[in-house]
Amino acid sequence: MTVAYAEHGSIATLTLDNPPVNALSVAVRQGLRDGLRRALAEPTVAAIIVMGKGRNFIAGADIREFGRPPQPPRLVEVIAEIEASAKPVIAAIDGVALGGGLEVALGCHFRIGTPRAQLGLPEVKIGIIPGAGGVERLPRLIGIEPALKMMVSGDPVRAAKAKELGILDAIVEGDLAAEARAFAERVLAEKRPIRRLGQMPIPGADGDWRQLIEAQRKLASKQNRGQISPQKVIDCVANAITLPFDQAVAETIRVINELIPSEQAKALRYAFFAEREAGKVPDIEAGTAPRPLRGAAVIGAGTMGAGIAMCFADAGIPVRILESSAEALEKGLARIGKLYDEMVQKGRIGAAEREKRLGLIAKAAGYEALGEADIVIEAAFEEMAVKRDVFAKLDAACKRDAVLASNTSYLDINEIAAATRRPESVIGLHFFSPANVMKLLEIVRGKATGKDVVATAQALAKMLGKVGVVCGVCHGFVANRSRGAMTREANFLVDEGALPHEVDRVLYEFGMPMGPFAVADLAGIDVGWRVRRSFDATRRKDERYSPTADRLYELGRYGQKTGKGWYRYEPGSRTPLPDPEVEAVILKSSKDQGITRRAIGEDEILARCLYAAVNEGAKILEEGVALRASDIDVMWLYGFGFPRWRGGPMYWADTVGLGKVYDGVQRFHREQGTFWTPAPLLRRLAESGGSFTAG
Ligand code: 3HC
Ligand code: NAI
Repeated sequence: MTVAYAEHGSIATLTLDNPPVNALSVAVRQGLRDGLRRALAEPTVAAIIVMGKGRNFIAGADIREFGRPPQPPRLVEVIAEIEASAKPVIAAIDGVALGGGLEVALGCHFRIGTPRAQLGLPEVKIGIIPGAGGVERLPRLIGIEPALKMMVSGDPVRAAKAKELGILDAIVEGDLAAEARAFAERVLAEKRPIRRLGQMPIPGADGDWRQLIEAQRKLASKQNRGQISPQKVIDCVANAITLPFDQAVAETIRVINELIPSEQAKALRYAFFAEREAGKVPDIEAGTAPRPLRGAAVIGAGTMGAGIAMCFADAGIPVRILESSAEALEKGLARIGKLYDEMVQKGRIGAAEREKRLGLIAKAAGYEALGEADIVIEAAFEEMAVKRDVFAKLDAACKRDAVLASNTSYLDINEIAAATRRPESVIGLHFFSPANVMKLLEIVRGKATGKDVVATAQALAKMLGKVGVVCGVCHGFVANRSRGAMTREANFLVDEGALPHEVDRVLYEFGMPMGPFAVADLAGIDVGWRVRRSFDATRRKDERYSPTADRLYELGRYGQKTGKGWYRYEPGSRTPLPDPEVEAVILKSSKDQGITRRAIGEDEILARCLYAAVNEGAKILEEGVALRASDIDVMWLYGFGFPRWRGGPMYWADTVGLGKVYDGVQRFHREQGTFWTPAPLLRRLAESGGSFTAG
């Protein structure tokens, strides 16, 4: 039974039961409609409650049904029946009421929620728009501006905000079913009028709402550059204001029907499920108990250590920081203080919250102060000798079940683990810079890492609000190794004839937040230089190498921090400006390498950069370092800001067609040499008509 029917006196309760999140599958839609009709037909029933079983109201339409032929009854019709009911219908919301879930609630005449309720219309995030009357009803309930904001961002609001906006009529504590019945009794006793949103005017519809629409359009084109759905929802809100309710709904349905099968919506649905899949590691059973995570420690308070300490404080977990000197520690703490100050200035947190978070960060005088930490994350210099020394000391100082993690970008976790007598407790936890902002946590599993330690890392990712993706050990792991192939080609392209801003523009227009040269300037040319030095020992003599970035390093052009890198920067500005000096360095470098520069087209730039990443991704997959192609995609979405509406590089390659990608890789292999050796997996899939991500 997907919708249970119960009567208590004159009140009928319809309880949706479709675990895990009460998505509105065809059976739920039928059950809801049947339950409603039964309650309407029952003379003794005077009011009807709609609620969800478990911890959620309704998470929306069943996303798995998209792409299949729609089955009756349509949600929009079920909701119309709810709204038309002559008996008051009350939505009682616990947990999430998202998408179609909130639309059901908006069709009801009253809405109450628990303090943990979250309400939103997140459809734009999966490339569509609310298609069951939400676009039309929400502005009628709360006004144009807040409704637009909710629909364009797709972000949910919490109960208190929902009450303030007028979405919830009341917030109730205690048993929701009992509270809902009590609320229904009051509605009946007070003969409160039934409010049918579909029949109400939109407040402000006769005002100057076009400005609001334009402001949201601008914002959406900046924040979701290239994505269609936010613009479409804005179109539909404008229709909702100008057209009669039914006509506007019909138009919205026409638009959503166009969007559902669109490439962008497919990619965004893929990304949604890819993210959930990434949380699953086949040999680690769902119930594997993580170790406790009550207190943490961080080694090193540099760029990463400071950010990682903030992640813990932001999540309410006390954290101690150990540095190699008192000055370095003070410097790190000052950096943290400054970052929190900026958050206060930007209104992201209040002054009290700043104090609370700072209060969770403590200095550790020595290793003996780390004895009680449940997890230690090392973010010291990227040198094996330093890492091994730190881990040997941690091994001696930390309690038996502590998790010992390294934030290393490239180094071998197994070798680091071997510096301890407990390699099963050692793991890589690769944060991305800035650590307190970027959502990816690459969880690097060494050959001895215990399953419970992997589970602890996954639990930690959730606690810190990150997306944890598990992978194995190789130089650079999954994210940096696959991206490294892209930057390698970007550098070669510049040596062959392109200029940094030309390469960057192609990738920016593709949807990346920045091109590889702008990123290099942000991360630091000196940092890249050190990474290249870490490869020196293993780089083959005959291997092609671009020395151009080293020339910039030698000139002290370290990127944004020195106001000069691949670009030049005006004082106080982060806008990259092409620099004739760099062009001269590039031309000379090409000449020194004996390269005759040529005109390079945009198609070649894109293919060289992205096919290189895809080919490397295929090698990583085949080696088993990544569990699945979609994990690589999730890493690019959250680590590098790959446009979500393109799914990720591996998914994107599938949409291009692996035959075409493989042809390109073969061509570059002929022209460019060994770097482009086609991944056998790519060849097999291309030849068999397969794909990385389907199935
Ligand atoms: N349809 C189908 N499956 C869904 C789903 C949905 N709407 N929402 C969640 N699920 C599945 C997940 O895939 C996952 O399945 P799995 O266990 O097999 O991997 C399971 O439910 C649990 O989901 P999460 O792991 O995400 O659990 P969380 O507790 O972290 O989050 C959530 C729960 C907040 C509901 C989150 O899943 C979410 O945001 N879901 C999507 C909500 C959404 O986009 N709704 C709009 C749908 S479109 C719509 O309603 C159109 C309408 O206008 C007509
Ligand atoms: P950083 O140079 O800014 O900071 C390193 C800090 O560690 C310094 O403050 C130093 O004093 C301290 N330190 C060095 N040896 C120590 C020791 N033995 N004990 C205690 N403290 C010690 O370096 P950054 O950028 O923060 O990098 C740290 C680690 O994080 C490296 O392994 C790096 O590869 C990795 N990483 C860096 C990223 C980045 O973008 N900067 C991204 C992801 C990982």
